[in-house]
Amino acid sequence: MLDLQSVGMEKGMLYETIITTVNSDNTPNAAPIGVICKDKHEIVVYLHHGSSTIKNIKKNHFFIVNLLKDPIIFVESTLGNPSPENFIEFQGNCSIKKADAFFLAKVNDLKDVEKEDQFGISKTSIVRANVKEIIIKNDCVEPLNRAIYGVVEALVYLTRKDMVSGETEKLYNLRMKEISRIVSKVGSKEHKAAIKKVMDAWGK
Ligand SMILES: Cc1cc2nc3c(=O)[nH]c(=O)nc-3n(C[C@H](O)[C@H](O)[C@H](O)COP(=O)(O)O)c2cc1C
Repeated sequence: MLDLQSVGMEKGMLYETIITTVNSDNTPNAAPIGVICKDKHEIVVYLHHGSSTIKNIKKNHFFIVNLLKDPIIFVESTLGNPSPENFIEFQGNCSIKKADAFFLAKVNDLKDVEKEDQFGISKTSIVRANVKEIIIKNDCVEPLNRAIYGVVEALVYLTRKDMVSGETEKLYNLRMKEISRIVSKVGSKEHKAAIKKVMDAWGK
């Protein structure tokens, strides 16, 4: 059986995916969700309460993780749902037609916790799931990780540093801090080493 390495997912890394589930009225649902690769056949997701995704997963115990980089699908899945013709049925679940790859995940543990983050305390479900079946539709599939984009953005600000002052400089300082936080959260060792070099140069 294929494992998560076959779609480029590395242990310990967080990827931005589209999770598709089935609503109680049998319509498909899609939402962008961060998926942590725990092992070759295991993932973890943190789901804030209130979304259709967590309701559907609690009820059905199965969901599909879609790997793709289509910007419109990301936007439509955040604002609502892509129209029904964007979905395709897979073993009683649904996936996104345009996905470069997708896999079926089966919940093996679900814990409700109260989590504190920068936005306050919220109810979250920590869902561990086993990877059941992986379908690769595009051999060039590459899971989406935000770290490299953060490093590139930070470098762009760094090359402009001497050109700005006052309010713009303050704004750039805030952005650099936020980019550094994100890269440290979602990046690999290499991404973290890279952003540290950029931040050191920024502080000089
Ligand atoms: C890139 C991205 C990643 C996201 N990751 C998560 C996540 O890991 N957990 C979560 O609960 N919501 C996450 N969200 C927010 C949900 O996608 C959003 O609340 C969505 O509207 C939920 O849709 P639903 O009600 O159809 O499930 C993320 C949003 C974006 C844009």
